[in-house]
Parts: sequence; C-alpha cells; structure tokens
Amino acid sequence: MPELPEEPAARHKALAAEIAEHNQRYHGDDDPIISDAEFDALQQELDALEAEHPELADGTTSGIGAAPSGAFAEVEHPLPMLSLNKALTADEVAEFLTRVRRFLKLPEDAGLTFTAEPKIDGLSLSLRYENGALAVAATRGDGRAGENVTKNVAFVEAIPQKLKGKPPAVFEVRGEVYMTHADFAALNARLVEEGKRPVANPRNAAAGSLRQVEPQKTADRPLQFFAYGWGEASELPAETQSGMMEALKAYGLPVNDLMHRCETIEALLAAYSEIEEKRAALPYDIDGMVYKIDRLDLQRRLGERERRPRWAVAHKFAAERAITVLEGIEIQVGRTGSLTPVARLAPITVGGVVVKNATLHNADEIARLDVRIGDTVEIQRAGDVIPQVVRVLTDKRPAGSAPYVFPEKCPVCGSKVAAELNPRTGKPDVVRRCTGGLVCDAQVLARLKHFVSRAAFDIEGLGAKQIAAFHADGLIRTPADIFTLAKRDAAKPEDERIVAREGYGETSVRNLFDAIESRRTIALRRLIYALGIRRVGEISSRVLALHFGTYDAFRKGMGALAKAAADRAAQTEPDAEGEAVRTDLVAIDGLGAVVADALENFFSESHNVDALDALAGELTIEPEVARTVDSAIAGKAVVFTGSLERMTRDEAKARAEALGARVVGTISKKTDIVVAGPGAGSKLAKAEALGLTVWDEDAWLAVAQEES
Ligand code: IVH
Repeated sequence: MPELPEEPAARHKALAAEIAEHNQRYHGDDDPIISDAEFDALQQELDALEAEHPELADGTTSGIGAAPSGAFAEVEHPLPMLSLNKALTADEVAEFLTRVRRFLKLPEDAGLTFTAEPKIDGLSLSLRYENGALAVAATRGDGRAGENVTKNVAFVEAIPQKLKGKPPAVFEVRGEVYMTHADFAALNARLVEEGKRPVANPRNAAAGSLRQVEPQKTADRPLQFFAYGWGEASELPAETQSGMMEALKAYGLPVNDLMHRCETIEALLAAYSEIEEKRAALPYDIDGMVYKIDRLDLQRRLGERERRPRWAVAHKFAAERAITVLEGIEIQVGRTGSLTPVARLAPITVGGVVVKNATLHNADEIARLDVRIGDTVEIQRAGDVIPQVVRVLTDKRPAGSAPYVFPEKCPVCGSKVAAELNPRTGKPDVVRRCTGGLVCDAQVLARLKHFVSRAAFDIEGLGAKQIAAFHADGLIRTPADIFTLAKRDAAKPEDERIVAREGYGETSVRNLFDAIESRRTIALRRLIYALGIRRVGEISSRVLALHFGTYDAFRKGMGALAKAAADRAAQTEPDAEGEAVRTDLVAIDGLGAVVADALENFFSESHNVDALDALAGELTIEPEVARTVDSAIAGKAVVFTGSLERMTRDEAKARAEALGARVVGTISKKTDIVVAGPGAGSKLAKAEALGLTVWDEDAWLAVAQEES
C-alpha cells in the first residue's frame, strides 16, 4: 500500500481514493486484494479523519459498488432478518423434512404442505408500510440492523409507495431487490462508454445501485423487487405462506409467479428440476429454490434457531465450475493456529467472477486430491462461499512434478505442527495446527485483530492495521495491554510516544485514547466473543452471557468447568459444580457438547485465564439482562425430564426459551420448575426431595400455548 500524505486534506483524498478502489474491487469486481479487516482499518481511519476535520466529509467517498458503511443511517429491524439453512442434495432435503416432522412430532405419513419458489440472487430489503404508505426501507445489514435506503427506494418504480386494498396498519414486507440481465448489460455498456469499469454481476450492480449516496442516481439504474415474506405486522391477512403471497400481490407488490405448492418430497424435487431447467431462460439470476412450510401456525411452532427458521430451507443449484492451473500453495495461520492451505490459481472467470484463490481445506484434502503445484485443476464456486478445488486433471500433469509435502513446522513461528486428537472419535483431527500458541506471532496477531473487530471491542481508531503496527513494535501483546497503553505511553519520553509515530498527531492520539477509554465498559456478550474461543461466535456468546448473567458468574462457572475437566483427566472425582455447569451448557439449545468442550479447553490453559483476568481487571463488564418477556416462566430455570407426548423435547426447550426461561439440564436447589413427562425417573425423585415445583405435561402446555 502506498504511503499516505500527512496533510489532512491530501490524506483524506488519498484515503478516499484508496477506499473507493477497494470498494470497487470488492463490491464491483468481487476481486478484493485486501482483507476485510484491512479494509475496515482504512475506513476507520477515514472516519477518524472526518471526525477531526468535518469540513473534509463531503460524501464523495462512494465508489460504484457500494457506499462505505456510515453513509446511511442505521435502522434496527423490529424482527431480525433471517438467513436460511442450506440443503445441497436431495438427501439433505429429505433430512429437512424429517427434522420438521420430528420437531412437530408428526408421523412419517402425515400430510405436510410446502411452498417451493426460486431463490432470487439479489439483496434482501425490508419495506415498512404504515397505514399503507411506505415509511422506511432498510437493507438487511447484519440481520439486526441495516441501512436506511428509503430515499433511494423512492426511485425504484417496482416498489409501491402506497399499498392497494386494506393492508395491516403496520406491515413490514420483505423481499429481494435485483436487476434483470438486460438492464445489467445496458448499465455495463454505459459504464464502459463512460470509461468506467463494468460491474461483475447483476447482484453487485443491484447492491451498488440501491446504495447510491445520491438517491436520484438509483433512478438511472432500473431495479426490480420480489416480495417473499414479512417481518413485523399488526395482523396477518392469511394463515398460510401461499395465502400471504396472494395477499401481497393484491396489495400491489410484485411476487414471483413460479411458486409451487407441494405435498411430497417428490413434488418439491420436481419443482426444483423444472425451475433449474428454466434457469438459463429467466431474465434474472436465481441460485436455488426455497422450500417453506405452508401453514403459518406450524411455522410459528417451529420457530428459529441461530437466526435461521426451522420451517424453511434453501435448496441450492449445482455450483459453477472452471478449469485453471494451480500456481502455488500458501499456508495461512489462523487465530487458533489452524493451518489452511490456499491454492493460488491462474486467474479464471467462474460465473462472471474472477477467481485467483481457492481453498484446499486441509492436509488430508491435498493428499486425497494428490494435487501438485503446476497441476491443471477444476475449481467450483457456489454462491458466496470460497471457491474450492474439486478435481485434478492428471493427464495434464507436467512431467517431473512431486507430491505436495505439508509443512511440519509453522511457516510463521517455526513451531511444530500437530493434528489434535478429537476427544469424541479418538482419531487425529483433519486440521493441522501450529503448537506455538502465544509464541506464534500469526496467532497472537490474529487474536488481537479479532479482539478489536466490529462485533468485539470495536475501538475506533484501533483497527486491524493499527493493531498490527502496535503489535510489531511490542506496544500491544495482549488484550489488557490496550487498556494500559495510555498510561505506559505517558511514562515515556516525548519522542518515544505514539504522538511521535508516523501518521499520528496530538488530536488523533487523544481520539485513540478516548476511544479506548469509552470501551472500558463493555457488555458481557462482547467480551466473551472478543476472547476468540473456538466455536464461540457471536450467537453462542450471547447465549452464554444470558445464561450466566454476570461476568463473575461466567468466570466462576468457567473455573469450575476447567477444574472438573482436570479432575476427570486425573481420574479423580470431578468437581461437582463444574460438572453441573457442563451439564447445563450441553443442554442449552445452540451450545451443546462442542461448545462446552471448547470452553473447557480454553479455560484449561493458564495463559488464557491469566490474560483474561488481567483484562477483566481493566474493565467494567455490564451484565446481560434477558429480554423481558411477559410469561409465567420468564427468568425461571426450567428442567425437562421424561418424555412429552404432545410436543418434542426440542420444541419444548425452544418454546420455553422463547418465553424467557433458562432451560437447564441438571436439577438443583436453583431450579424453579421441573416439567416431568411419563418415565421421568431419578430426576423427578430428586425434584420431589428438594421440594421443587413439578409440572405435568398439561400444566406445561397451558403455559406453552399462551400467546407471548
Ligand atoms: S425467505 C425467513 N425466500 O436468501 C426466511 N429468501 O439465505 C428468510 N432470498 O437473505 C428468507 N429469495 O435475501 C426467502 N424466495 C426467497 C428468497 C430469499 C432470495 C434470500 C434472502 C435471504 C437469503 C437467505
């Protein structure tokens, strides 16, 4: 990256140009040359500069692809915008049907109606109509909050400003914005004529067009819309998905007319084949089919898990493939030491996108494919996932090539590379890891970058780029160091302070320290996420924070969990508190044994515990309060035992959590309610001995079926 000038106006211009270029590469060309983290760092730097020099913020920082984040106001979605679980094969579709039946406790032959409709390859949009008039249009964003694009949508003819008929007073319509092939071709012809670079595909063109900073520019780029669902609604005009689609149509909203209603898996698969055949002739891009349970009461019972509905699935079309040459294999070292081999390819266009890298997953995969440098390989790209190498064309193999030898030493720190034993199977894991831990600069740096990332501490002015520089100079080695930075800096002679560093001045240093100070108070869920524990992402972090409530309870629970693990390893009686913590974690929907194991591993390492304790000493950690739900079991600890006859255990758990309860696996004095079905054995006896409230299935159903 070229050095940026010092003088603010020149620096702003250079930064803006750089961001515009990366924006174009990312959104426009799907060919980024820097990581998301590096991009965020640039953006943060620009934001900081604009905060310091507001006169520089002139809104010209948008490329064609997409305006940089921050150009639009944020809109929180009253109900989150969900993603979909994927099925790649007919077997996976069958599994989806089985899961649904099992969850609803329906026999195999019970009739179930689905809708099947094309999955449009565009971007999702939420349109809030109040008394029939469009009030707010918002992009999906991260699902919880998106960007306010109401002004842009005013220029999209396909989206009505007013609904026809008698729509619900509050009605959030959700659907997909897209650009037709013809409009896309015309846009690109115009861009080329104007000496600009064409856009890679209709989806990027639609995204870029919707997010024009000057809304009237959206008018020059014809966009289309299909409504496929809804969010908040004061009432619903129908009781089925298909009925809702008819209602949306009657309100004047465009809906896709290729929707089928299907009663069997055969019918779903026939709809899939029929539309896949039509795919090439459709005037817009689709990348699969979406199957949804038709009855809305069943949709409600099924609910969602990890922001994906249990009542729908995306059945994707086969991926696009291409042939190219493998020019090299590079090993990347991740946050947890995992070594990921990345194929460097001779650039090739796959489905309209230039691909230069593909994942080779792991050492086993390289061995399985026997892929060698110089080989001609087939790669496939499916939707947004990283392209992968699927096949070697061995007849094209150059003479004298040798099998690839996976490194036995970490390419960054030289530590030994090892495959961990999978505790459940007892076999070595496919992923090789650098054993350097905190000795490995790649791991330390990747952890620190994660620590300051958006969903974690999100410290303004301390992005991936700055962290890398401070880490390289030994100023920040652990998370706690961030919070002692100002004090250590002040103790140094003036010419060794941060203010003397390239690119810093009095104001920017002050802003940096202020930003760090403002994050000294942090929500428990963010702190847990920031630790970068394997398998503990944003969702699990939230679930953990809710489960433990306070940092002290979390820390104590984790200490006990590690103690029990150590006891087990030493073949002594495991710590009872730790065992109870583990049982509860395993029982929580969305966590389970995998997360419990990962927490156990993390908290069994003294350097992790020491680093966390040092960090916590610097922070004020806000407790997590459960969303207040008005129900008889809100805030209560509930245990299910025995079998339920009219609801599966999974559904019962999900329902209890939706009603604000904490579902735990072990009975203790702290348990509030025990729901005992037939066959409840020792747990029921224990509950009775402890004098706990015990409900039978009828009592549970009376609460579960209350409207919340
Ligand atoms: S339903 C609760 N239906 O696919 C269900 N989504 O991976 C939410 N999409 O973000 C989505 N066509 O933008 C649904 N007919 C369709 C769709 C569709 C495209 C997109 C949507 C969503 C993504 C989910």
